[in-house]
Amino acid sequence: MNIVVAVTGGIAAYKTVHLVRLLVTAGHHVTVVPTEDALRFVGKPTWEAISRHPVTTSVHEDVAQVRHVALGQAAELVIVAPATANTIAKMAAGLADDLLGTTLLATTAPVAIAPAMHTEMWRHPATQANIDTLRGRGVAVLGPDSGELTGGDSGPGRMREPERIVEQALALVDHDAPGDLDGLRVAVSAGGTREPLDPVRFLGNRSSGRQGVALALAAADLGAEVALVCAHVEEAVLADAAQHPLTRVEHVGTAAELGAAMRTAAEDAAVIVMAAAVADYRPAEVSERKLTKESGPLRSIELVPNDDIVAALAARRTPGQVVVAFAAETADDHAQLLARARRKRERKGVDLLVVNEVGWDRGFETSQNSVHMIGEEGAVLAQASGTKRAVADEIWNVVADVLG
Ligand code: CTP
Repeated sequence: MNIVVAVTGGIAAYKTVHLVRLLVTAGHHVTVVPTEDALRFVGKPTWEAISRHPVTTSVHEDVAQVRHVALGQAAELVIVAPATANTIAKMAAGLADDLLGTTLLATTAPVAIAPAMHTEMWRHPATQANIDTLRGRGVAVLGPDSGELTGGDSGPGRMREPERIVEQALALVDHDAPGDLDGLRVAVSAGGTREPLDPVRFLGNRSSGRQGVALALAAADLGAEVALVCAHVEEAVLADAAQHPLTRVEHVGTAAELGAAMRTAAEDAAVIVMAAAVADYRPAEVSERKLTKESGPLRSIELVPNDDIVAALAARRTPGQVVVAFAAETADDHAQLLARARRKRERKGVDLLVVNEVGWDRGFETSQNSVHMIGEEGAVLAQASGTKRAVADEIWNVVADVLG
């Protein structure tokens, strides 16, 4: 593939050397377009050696080849990494005072930017407005990630790691990837519901929402339009998915709210994924005031059952709609885990049940997961383990098969 990697003037430019190398070793034809400022951080010889192509910043070289527009026209993908606040502002305004600017205006290829700057600059309303403008034009904004910054401070502003940028940017064009979800609408729930007892207390669970968010992000990377319904997912867990141009996030609190949001999202969805941990019961009464010892000892809490959201969605699904449920189980052995999962799939009436084993020290609040996917007649269609993102990719592969 013909890829233009535009590099702008930030210290993270050194990471882009690795990014270019990853693309070149994967067999892509990469043209690096640095700004003049970028060359203060990493020089031309490095870009030429690593990309194996001549590098220029000027619109006045190679004029016979009409280089200032030819690069953009020939590009199948443009990645701007790092994208400084200044370049983001120039892109939003459509300025074309250098080769990067003309290339960006001349291209019809997907454009991905990997912002990198200090947290204050990233959060500035001007930068945020420019980012919104670019997103509105379909630019994929990859990051920034949170972490330690060059000045010793920390917060959102770090350029995303090159491996991840490459993965996400290639997904923008990789329409032949297995399990391609291009143009499909999917509804995903993530997190854990909380059922209030009084204004300060609730019945909840340990779900962090990581697996659900990874599923939403993986679907969006495969081209799906994602409605992500989140119950109490931390901002840091949600950040990537929330920034994805194909993802719309809705926040909910209780099981009833999650049910209502999922019913709406499911209306035009080809796939429904219930990864959220939903409270099976809620307190029969919610106290308007904080319960105190003065209001009398509380020895028990009367509970009433919540509706089974996924079972209801499965019961009313439209022809062709695929419904996926999750089950986090504790089991004595593998056979018991699978037997329980099979019974649960039957009971819920879903197409696919993804089961993982949990315990005090496994399954929750970690970045790893290990699952089995149970399909029709209780068949184990696949198993997957690794990062929650890797597991999410496998799940979408199986869902794509089920979708036919
Ligand atoms: N779920 C749901 N509505 C509920 C409870 C659970 O939609 N009220 C969904 C979850 O999102 C998940 C699946 O059902 O996809 C399995 O959740 P789980 O809590 O394991 O199911 P339960 O029916 O509560 O089974 P158990 O008897 O093991 O608690």
